[in-house]
Amino acid sequence: FRMTQDELKQRVAMAALAHVEDGMVVGVGTGSTVNFFIDALAGIKGRIDGAVSSSEASTARLKAHGIPVFDLNAAGPLPLYVDGADEANARLQLIKGGGAALTREKIVAGASAKFVCIADASKLVDTLGRFPLPVEVIPMARSHVARALLALGGQPVWREGVVTDNGNWILDVHGLRITDPVTLERAINDIAGVVTNGLFALRPADVLLLGAPEGVRELRA
Ligand code: A5P
Repeated sequence: FRMTQDELKQRVAMAALAHVEDGMVVGVGTGSTVNFFIDALAGIKGRIDGAVSSSEASTARLKAHGIPVFDLNAAGPLPLYVDGADEANARLQLIKGGGAALTREKIVAGASAKFVCIADASKLVDTLGRFPLPVEVIPMARSHVARALLALGGQPVWREGVVTDNGNWILDVHGLRITDPVTLERAINDIAGVVTNGLFALRPADVLLLGAPEGVRELRA
């Protein structure tokens, strides 16, 4: 018997419910793992006040379950943020943005006291960077930012056709071996025209839940 990737995601999403307390407004991330968390949250929706969402997609799913969705300006700061990741290291630094929601995710994570990251165990790596690092850019700055990313040692590829919830574009930076995530996060954010990048190192996760066939493993910062 072998657990599918979806079963691992569902299991780790269920484990995140342990961090939800009565009366909370819960910060909710984006992606296929978080979708399982939203579905799990629906089962206890009478106990929470509602959610703040990091994307139009998560907002739609929350509302479909009848979970109230609040504006961050009205509901923040939040006690808890739950989100997935594309890669994580043992220091709980992450690459996010595979679903292009990185900027709102970083905002809600930054406005939350505790960030619980949920992922299947295959996302844990020694060194971040095999997953291409997403960078959200103001459209007119795309080529300028791409040249600056080349100078930093990466190979940026335009995710053509994708427009973020904020009306911007995404460059995916390939070929990085990220040994100093904090420094690289700052350096990329310093390029004019960058809205933000998918490194979560300045604000890493506080708890990392990893779904594996043997069970859910918990790492803490
Ligand atoms: C969305 O922009 C991302 O940051 C997601 O959190 C990340 O891509 C994880 O998604 P999955 O849970 O679908 O792997």
